[in-house]
Amino acid sequence: METRGYQFSYEVYADKRALTAGDQSLIDASAVACEQAYAPYSGFRVGAAIRTIDQDVIAGSNQENGAFPIGQCAERVALYLMVHTLGRKPVDTIAIVVDHKDQLTPASPCGSCRQVLNEYRSFQDTPIRLLLTLAQGGEVYEIHDVRDLLPFAFDGSFLGL
Ligand code: THU
Repeated sequence: METRGYQFSYEVYADKRALTAGDQSLIDASAVACEQAYAPYSGFRVGAAIRTIDQDVIAGSNQENGAFPIGQCAERVALYLMVHTLGRKPVDTIAIVVDHKDQLTPASPCGSCRQVLNEYRSFQDTPIRLLLTLAQGGEVYEIHDVRDLLPFAFDGSFLGL
């Protein structure tokens, strides 16, 4: 018998002002995208702004629907928009901003988004970093690589890719 392990750590900054100017403006782009969220059912508004390694920025927001399951998360709206606008470019960082009255700490991507983020991560050799914060400001969580959020993942390698 052997035990196999996994360790996860992330950084917490007291405020976005502790970050570089580039990271701060990515968070600002995500906050602007958050204003375009369509979330009348949950009231949970999310913006996601992607910065590619070439410094392009593409953003998206969550888009809900009266038929609840077909709504789409901000992260996936932004990722799909990026591919259709720029082609499949390596991603450097994604800032995710949440605006919800009861949310007091940054929210992290849902399981489906982790799976999709992991798929995009498999296209590149470099990490995809996440910056998570609230629209009203406060702490910023830095996740070094989306891979860390989905240990023991199912991916294309199981299907021979
Ligand atoms: N949502 C996102 O857009 N991203 C996440 O990572 C978590 C959840 C959206 C989906 C839904 O519109 C609302 O937030 C509440 O779940």
